Amino acid sequence: MASKNLIEKTRYHVEKELAGDSSGHDWWHIYRVWSVAKKIAEEENADQTVVELAALLHDIADWKFNDGDELAGPKQAALWLNKNKAPLKLVDAVCKIISTLSFKGANVATPMTTIEGKIVQDADRLDAIGAVGIARTFAYGGNKNRLIYHPDEAPVVHESFEHYKNNKGHTINHFHEKLLLLKDRMNTQTAKKIAEGRHSFMQNYLNRFYKEWNGDA
Ligand code: NI
Repeated sequence: MASKNLIEKTRYHVEKELAGDSSGHDWWHIYRVWSVAKKIAEEENADQTVVELAALLHDIADWKFNDGDELAGPKQAALWLNKNKAPLKLVDAVCKIISTLSFKGANVATPMTTIEGKIVQDADRLDAIGAVGIARTFAYGGNKNRLIYHPDEAPVVHESFEHYKNNKGHTINHFHEKLLLLKDRMNTQTAKKIAEGRHSFMQNYLNRFYKEWNGDA
């Protein structure tokens, strides 16, 4: 199958699979990651097909919703690509990216080895910050029955993936434990530039949030 057709087909498959999600990993998250990944790939001269397919399939079976099974994502992606007769090399490249992609805690490194992987990781991280990132974070917290904020519970630096995965803290802590760290973890220059604006928007938001919490604004 020509790569354009495969991308098109994959797009509709993923849209159908994720349409009902209310946790911030719905189709429109994929759409945004795909869109920004395409742009970064152009700037960085990367393989568009690998980038687009990995972006489209990166949350097809996220570990957060599969009882912690980190292999559910790459397995599902491989199944789909093989079913559509994608070349073995392409399947490998895409699945490798998906299995390395998830953020696993502040002090747990998740290195990407290819430029295509770096781009998809950047695009996914960009969607976690800024105005959209704020909306997604509260949607996810609500889905997991978390408090918006609790002034007595300070943020935690997660030393391991297990620790991060089992964390039940309030949503404002998530900004300090993950979102505000992402700007410095962007791989590509293009993403670093985009991240600057999104990061400062979040900082302004948090300043305002604490002020309102205490009746000071
Ligand atoms: Ni994602």
